Amino acid sequence: MPVQVKSAEEIDSMRIAGRLAAEVLDYIAPRVRPGVSTGTLNDLCHAYMVGEQGTVPAPLDYAPPGYKPYPKSICTSVNHQVCHGIPGDRILRAGDIVNIDVTVIKDGFHGDSSRMYYAGEPSIQARRLVDVTYECMWHGIREVRPGAHLGDIGASIQAHAERHGFSVVREFCGHGIGRRFHEDPQVLHYGKRGAGLRLEPGMTFTIEPMINAGKAAIRELADGWTIVTKDHSLSAQWEHTVLVSANGVEILTRSAGTPSPPS
Ligand code: MF3
Ligand code: CO
Ligand code: CO
Repeated sequence: MPVQVKSAEEIDSMRIAGRLAAEVLDYIAPRVRPGVSTGTLNDLCHAYMVGEQGTVPAPLDYAPPGYKPYPKSICTSVNHQVCHGIPGDRILRAGDIVNIDVTVIKDGFHGDSSRMYYAGEPSIQARRLVDVTYECMWHGIREVRPGAHLGDIGASIQAHAERHGFSVVREFCGHGIGRRFHEDPQVLHYGKRGAGLRLEPGMTFTIEPMINAGKAAIRELADGWTIVTKDHSLSAQWEHTVLVSANGVEILTRSAGTPSPPS
């Protein structure tokens, strides 16, 4: 499928879906604490989405080719889990870091965002990984403008991660988003400046770098979804859905509780 340019009406719908996804992340923030299970976080988010927002949790029963249907409404990826962690009986302990990834569907359009949370006090090393990963996402976002190339985003993210001695996960990437959860283009979090698709106003896609404290290699668990670092090093991820605007970039997954950009 070619990369779509969204109409003004479609962009209005994407703004709404994006804000709603971000508001789920706001809602769950104070509930991420030692002693809570990831399954409880899922159930709370599910009830908020369906009951309060009137949104559909896009992950639930999502089954891309080669995957079995995803069984829950959000992804919770703890410590050395990279992404797609399935919520369940696991109880968060003080010092855990957890990514919560929320994708909602509202009026046929998707909003996709994730943030990192701390259960209790993280180690200095964990906090540094989480902060640098947030900066990586923002380095990517700051490259977005008409005429820029996708490779500019990847190159900027990769340079920042590697400058801090961290590594970029290669197997998963950002993606176009709209009426479908995952559309073209693929937004790699590594690459070469000037390479790849030229951005045009009206394109909507995610930037969602997964950064490992150790080596980049990953493996998939037997549940068919959860991705972990091969060397068991910590991994972090942040995600926004963005729009290429007439003269730059607009963050679509913004809410009252969205963390501010790094200085
Ligand atoms: N939200 C993830 C992304 O950012 C995709 C999760 S697919 C799921 O692309 F099925 F695991 F939910
Ligand atoms: Co995404
Ligand atoms: Co996501």
